[in-house]
Amino acid sequence: MTTYNIALLAGDGTGKEVTDEAVKILKAIGEKYSIDFNFEPALIGGCAYDEFKTPLPDITLDIAKKSDAVLLGAVGDWKYDKLPPEVRPERALLGIRKELNLFANLRPAIVYPELTSLSPLKSNIVSGTNIMIIRELTGDVYFGTPKGIEIKNNEKFGFNNMCYFESEIKRIAHTAFKVAMQRNKKLCSVDKANVLDVSRLWRETVTLVSKEYPQVELSHMYVDNAAMQIIRNPKQFDVILTGNIFGDILSDEASMLSGSLGLLPSASLSDKKLAMYEPIHGSAPDLKGLDIVNPIATILSAAMMLKYSFSLDKQYETIVHAVRKTLKDGYRTQDIKQDGMQIIGCKKMGDIIKDNILKD
Ligand code: IPM
Ligand code: MG
Repeated sequence: MTTYNIALLAGDGTGKEVTDEAVKILKAIGEKYSIDFNFEPALIGGCAYDEFKTPLPDITLDIAKKSDAVLLGAVGDWKYDKLPPEVRPERALLGIRKELNLFANLRPAIVYPELTSLSPLKSNIVSGTNIMIIRELTGDVYFGTPKGIEIKNNEKFGFNNMCYFESEIKRIAHTAFKVAMQRNKKLCSVDKANVLDVSRLWRETVTLVSKEYPQVELSHMYVDNAAMQIIRNPKQFDVILTGNIFGDILSDEASMLSGSLGLLPSASLSDKKLAMYEPIHGSAPDLKGLDIVNPIATILSAAMMLKYSFSLDKQYETIVHAVRKTLKDGYRTQDIKQDGMQIIGCKKMGDIIKDNILKD
């Protein structure tokens, strides 16, 4: 029997509730297909700060580095809002991305037919949308230097540096073209090349890499136009490739096509085997302990782990199928409630998806 070691970083707020359900689902997959998933829990975020005075302790990084894949819940809680920036929970997220070199963030935005009416957009616009956003995750203005707040001309001056090395653009472009090859072979690279020098290099480099993927149709779009086009006609997109900050913004925007942040998973890949999987939503500390959050984004993140880290495509499909059956049967958490459907809690949602896996 194959054993996979998974670092389990539940984090703060409702992170534990959603990862508990994802673990339940992976165990069901293990049972059904005779795969052994071994979970190694570790602290990250505010809870790690409470214990170790740092949101990303070495022991956590160690466990993550030794694992076959990392499953993360979410970090952050208002009670840490007053901490200095370098020990705030969000810092752990940036830290682990950098430490594990997770430069490629895959954020699928899929509108399930069962949930089309949840979208704030008209059904005819969103139905059938299936976009893969590929966000560069370890560079850009997030990590650029110099940065800080200083006194200049007798007043406070805040600054960050939006920057990319050509090699950073090349490697994320290769990832994006490879993903596009597995899909509908359409790649839209998003930048702000009409204003930013760093974007001019981005566009030039992506165009250069595209020569190696002649089957993929490459287009370029300015980020402001992309923000508009995602709402106007989301079905025009197959794969969107963009930098760290534009990807942060556009992926939240795209999540609304599907109606709830509670549905969207993500994968963060490196050039090594190790990758991290997490829902794109936050820790929702106000909902902690109420058993009402939606575990589907985390369950689908676990599914992405099976596909991208372990090449278990069939088992990935099994989970996606079980989630869709559960939705089709009318079960909803409160964030995706619809008339005539049955509202259930987080645990119950996990239980029903699990039953659908075992019955399948
Ligand atoms: C995300 C989040 C993070 C980011 C924050 C919490 C640091 O918004 O994963 O999209 O900006 O990358
Ligand atoms: Mg974000």
